[in-house]
Amino acid sequence: MTLSKALDQKIVLVTGSSRGIGREIARQALEAGAKVVLNGRNPATLEVTRSSLGHLDRTMAIVADLTQPEEAEYLVAATLTAWGRIDFLINNAGLSMRGPFAELTPTTVRTMIEANFSSAVWTTLAALPSLRASKGRVTFVSSLAGLGGFPGVSLYSASKMALEALHGSVGAEERSSGVSTRLIYLPFTENDSDKTVLDAQGNPFFHERRWVLTQPKAAQWILRATVGRRRTTVLTGAGAALVWARFLIPGILFCWLSRSEGRLHRVSRGS
Ligand SMILES: NC(=O)c1ccc[n+]([C@@H]2O[C@H](COP(=O)([O-])OP(=O)(O)OC[C@H]3O[C@@H](n4cnc5c(N)ncnc54)[C@H](OP(=O)(O)O)[C@@H]3O)[C@@H](O)[C@H]2O)c1
Repeated sequence: MTLSKALDQKIVLVTGSSRGIGREIARQALEAGAKVVLNGRNPATLEVTRSSLGHLDRTMAIVADLTQPEEAEYLVAATLTAWGRIDFLINNAGLSMRGPFAELTPTTVRTMIEANFSSAVWTTLAALPSLRASKGRVTFVSSLAGLGGFPGVSLYSASKMALEALHGSVGAEERSSGVSTRLIYLPFTENDSDKTVLDAQGNPFFHERRWVLTQPKAAQWILRATVGRRRTTVLTGAGAALVWARFLIPGILFCWLSRSEGRLHRVSRGS
């Protein structure tokens, strides 16, 4: 099914869509005819994004910090007040980190879990009654780093891996209600030039590194996965190799990751 056929006139809520991949998901959903709810924590960035995307009659921007359950409830309530329905919830909001596990502070640990995992829990919980009514769908955006415990990104890996369990549990529990879930694992993707990630102490720094997927391609895959039949999508040959390696040769995979000493996720600090 084409994206236009699947998304035309549908209500699509994309968390973390003020910039990066989320903004591109919103752009493509709008091009396919959907009504799109944009979300982020920064009102100014969100408004610039809303204006730049066009289709103002089919776009709504709602500021909400999804680490807070009441703000996730507000995001859903505001969507329902305006448009009465949610067909697709795309849990895209997230935050990355780089740094050794031994140096993590409690604040960094909490921040990572809340940004990548709790945000998806609160938003999905809040949207569930409406998704049941529309027999809608929930998508969780993960990373290849969520396929295993990668060195240098421990809390990112762990919080993304937790989405796999959430996808499994919610999908199984809600099967009879008509709500279905999708999980997609992205490889390194192009970043906005001003994107920051946290170091182990929780300080943001500019994030420069190689990438294998453009934002438009990542967004296209996420939307295809959202409307498609496959429950789990793992992108790239490296992703497929990881899936097999963790079941067939877990010891060799562990040795390889140990020897990499975090090189896979090394980044240079931009100015
Ligand atoms: N880029 C990659 O290489 C890559 C690879 C694999 C997976 N992913 C995943 O893809 C998703 C998008 O990544 P990205 O690179 O586009 O990140 P990004 O450029 O940093 O964008 C993150 C978005 O989430 C929002 N956000 C962050 N925390 C939030 C919160 N607590 N409540 C509401 N919104 C929040 C941000 O807006 P505000 O800051 O204004 O709130 C922004 O709109 C993430 O889940 C990420 O883990 C990315």
